[in-house]
Amino acid sequence: MLIEEKMITSTKKRGSLPAEDLLKRFSALRKFSEELCAALEPEDCVVQSMPDASPAKWHLAHTSWFFERFILYEAYKNYKPFHKDFFFLYNSYYIQAGDRFTRADRGLITRPGINEIINYRNYVTGSVINFLTTEDEELVSEFLSFIEIGIHHEQQHQELILTDIKHLFSKNPLYPVYYESKKDESPDKKAAPLSWKEFDEGIYLTGNNGEGFSYDNERMQHKQYLNKFAIANRLITNGEFLEFIEDDGYKRAELWLSDGFAKVEAERWNAPLYWEKIDNRWNLFTLTGLKKLNLMEPVSHVSYYEADAFARWKGFRLPSEAEWESASNTVEVKGNFVETKNFHPAELRADDSNNLNQMFGDVWEWTQSAYLPYPGFKILPGAVGEYNGKFMSGQMVLRGGSCASSASHLRRTYRNFFPPEARWQFSGIRLAKDV
Ligand SMILES: [Fe+2]
Repeated sequence: MLIEEKMITSTKKRGSLPAEDLLKRFSALRKFSEELCAALEPEDCVVQSMPDASPAKWHLAHTSWFFERFILYEAYKNYKPFHKDFFFLYNSYYIQAGDRFTRADRGLITRPGINEIINYRNYVTGSVINFLTTEDEELVSEFLSFIEIGIHHEQQHQELILTDIKHLFSKNPLYPVYYESKKDESPDKKAAPLSWKEFDEGIYLTGNNGEGFSYDNERMQHKQYLNKFAIANRLITNGEFLEFIEDDGYKRAELWLSDGFAKVEAERWNAPLYWEKIDNRWNLFTLTGLKKLNLMEPVSHVSYYEADAFARWKGFRLPSEAEWESASNTVEVKGNFVETKNFHPAELRADDSNNLNQMFGDVWEWTQSAYLPYPGFKILPGAVGEYNGKFMSGQMVLRGGSCASSASHLRRTYRNFFPPEARWQFSGIRLAKDV
């Protein structure tokens, strides 16, 4: 399974944003990736903790490869790559872009070292800026959409840098701290009861209407008939998920999909990823270190199987992606994104029971929808066509972004997707029900 990224194409052949705007965004983007890695030791940047995760050094190089391969290499007739072997080493899954190194072995690549990767980044950053500012306007305009794709691509990898470092650090018995939190831990209070927001039956528009940037998998906008439904006003908390555990939720096969319960037994799951029981008390490993489980925070790092079993135990279900997207039209696209530097989902402090809270940011929300093409979807020709379409089997859709996502990366129509057993992303639960 190849899930370190998802391929995109712009809504327009030419860039949606003018070159000056892209230049600003590009410069800020490149700096932010390096900022995310600034607190890491060189050794942290090399290790691959599991095949799904990649070393930080690889993310820094691969995002540079993307700009080098799809912009510089294509735009300049006699372009000389920074290093002759990097096209092989840092291609992820683009078969049409040439041979590539084995994904599961990325952690074995100790050379080039981090300093050479930083030199590679600087070379690519400088070359792209030079391209945007000095080249012929017509030539530049041909590549604006690819630069915009490259920006969104690197934002996806910034999220993966955080989730992959978290997974790596979780394997260390010393519980390394990625980021020092100044926040106090909350007392053991519980969230206010869930309330529900109802939506009438009818035809709802789903998918991107082509305005601004979108990935190809969000298009085209189309009609969906929805029965009357209700969606929960907030995310499920750690406290509520703890009740599921204490009611033997992980032991009751009747609550689980067959594949899910097989996973529970094979992996001996008894709690979400990163929950750890010490001296009969639940703790949580976070990017700010090991801390006491906060019952008010949204539960995170659950698989689709766990989200689905929890919903069944509660007597409800997960929303479909069309329900989620239709409901999201009632709130603004804002929330606890990576810019807050919490690097962790936040408890709901001002619970507004009449409206939908935490729809964006905090945790990706599992939907009950399989990741499938929308009506009219076509895989585009060329390597960029490999971004999304070829992964449309065996995965479920998640919505809303997380505390590791960039605010400028998210839209109501954004479709993330992961296999149902994946737990290392910031993934949580919002309930829905038929009315
Ligand atoms: Fe990628």
